[in-house]
Amino acid sequence: MAKSLTYTCNECGASSTKWSGQCDACQAWNSIVEEKPLAAGPGKKSLGARRGKAIPLTDLATIGEAPPRTMSGVGELDRVLGGGLVKASALLVGGDPGIGKSTLLLQAAARFARNGLKVIYISGEESTAQVQMRARRLGLHESPVSLASETNLRDILTTLEAEKPDFAIIDSIQTMWADHVDSAPGSVSQVRTCAHELTTFAKTHDVAIVMVGHVTKEGAIAGPRVVEHMVDTVLYFEGERGHQFRILRSVKNRFGPADEIGVFEMTGKGLAEVKNPSALFLSERSPAPGSVVFGGLEGTRPMLCEIQALVAPSPHSQPRRSVVGWDAGRLAMILAVLESRCGVPFTGLDVYLNVAGGLRITEPAADLAVAAALVSAREDAALPKESVIFGEISLSGALRPVVQTENRLKEAAKLGFTSAITPQQTKQVAASGLSMRQPRDLASFVEEVFGE
Ligand code: TYD
Ligand code: MG
Repeated sequence: MAKSLTYTCNECGASSTKWSGQCDACQAWNSIVEEKPLAAGPGKKSLGARRGKAIPLTDLATIGEAPPRTMSGVGELDRVLGGGLVKASALLVGGDPGIGKSTLLLQAAARFARNGLKVIYISGEESTAQVQMRARRLGLHESPVSLASETNLRDILTTLEAEKPDFAIIDSIQTMWADHVDSAPGSVSQVRTCAHELTTFAKTHDVAIVMVGHVTKEGAIAGPRVVEHMVDTVLYFEGERGHQFRILRSVKNRFGPADEIGVFEMTGKGLAEVKNPSALFLSERSPAPGSVVFGGLEGTRPMLCEIQALVAPSPHSQPRRSVVGWDAGRLAMILAVLESRCGVPFTGLDVYLNVAGGLRITEPAADLAVAAALVSAREDAALPKESVIFGEISLSGALRPVVQTENRLKEAAKLGFTSAITPQQTKQVAASGLSMRQPRDLASFVEEVFGE
C-alpha cells in the first residue's frame, strides 16, 4: 500500500493533507513541513493480549494519601513544581536556546541527588566531558549524578531500565530519535514518539523524567508545544538575554497550581535563586515621572514591579505605540479609555511602555498602574513616592477590585511602602498599615493625583 504524505505544523503539531504557507490551526507562517505518516502497528490488535485492571477510586491503598514528592531544597524550584518533584511523572522544560535550561537542570540534578534520589542526566547535545566541565564550573562535580551522552531512544530506555534511576533528565527531546520512525531527529513525529515513549516509561517504571525542549522560531525543528499535552507538567524558562533574571513558569501542572513562578539570577557560577524578587525588581528605581510601582501577583505570590512609561511628541504621522512586558492590545485600550473618559488625549504623541527587569505581566490588575504611568509621563509629574498601585479598568472608566488584595498590600508594606492607590471596593487591610487612597473612577483618579 502506498503511503501518502501528510503535512505537519512544527509550531502546534496540526496535520493537514496539503502544504500551505500559513498554519490554519495556529496561524504561524512557514511552519508546515512534509512528514511521513507514523508506521502502522503490527497488524490488527482489537483483542489485547493483556486485560487491563480497574480498581475502585476509593482504593487509597494503591497510591497512599498524596503522590510521593521529593524536595530539591531550592525554594523557587520546589514551589514551581507544586511542592517538590512527583514520582513517576513526566515534565517538559521549554525555553529559548541559551537561556539556561541545561544549567538549571544540572543544578537541580545535583540537588535532588544530594537529597537521596538516584539521578541520571542524559545529554544528546553535549558529550559527557562537556557536561562534566559545566558541572565543575558550577562547583557540582562531586555530586552523585550519573551522566550519559545518548540520542537513540532505544538505547536510552535500555540504560534507564538497567540503571533504575528515580529522576532522569533528557536534554533535549529534539536531539532524540527512535529507529522505528522514518524521519529526522527534531521532526514532529520523532519528537512526539520519543516524548510519548519516555512518558509511558516514566509511568510504568516509577521514574520522574524531565524533557528539555528548545523553543524554535522557525525552520524544520518541532517546538515543545507539540508534546505539551502528553506530559504532566510544563515549565517554561524565560528571560531576556541582556538581563540576568530568569523566570521559571509553570503553564500546566497536574500536581499543583499552574502559573506559579520561580525567579533566578544567572551568575558566573550558574543560577542563584532570588528569594525576594520584589526588592530586586525595584532596586534600581528612581521615582521619576512615568515610573509607577505595581502591586502584582505571580501565581500565588505577590510581586511588586516597576512600570515605566515615556511619552514624547511624535515626528511621524502615525505615532508609535511600543510595549515591552505587557499586552499591546491592552495598552491601546487604556489609551482609549484615558482619551474618551478622562479627557487625556495621546494624539500626536509616541508612547513607550516598559516593565522593568525583563518581567512579563499578564494581569489586568496592572491597568491602573499603567494608566498612572502614562498620565504621569504625559504630565511630566511624578507620582507620590512610596505608593503602590493596582486595579482593573473597565471600558467605561470604572475601577474594579482585583484578587488577593491582602497579599499585595502586605508585600508592599513589607518593602517599606506607606500608601496604596486601589479601586473603591477594595477592602482595607488594617494589618498592612498602609494609607489607602481609593478614587471613584479613572477620571477622578486623574483629577485627584494630577489635578492642579
Ligand atoms: P545553557 O544552560 O547552556 O542554555 P540552554 O541549555 O537553555 O541552551 O546556558 C547557556 C548560557 O548561560 C550561556 O550563554 C552562558 C550562561 N552561563 C552563565 O552565565 N553562567 C554559568 O555558570 C553557566 C553554566 C552558563
Ligand atoms: Mg542546553
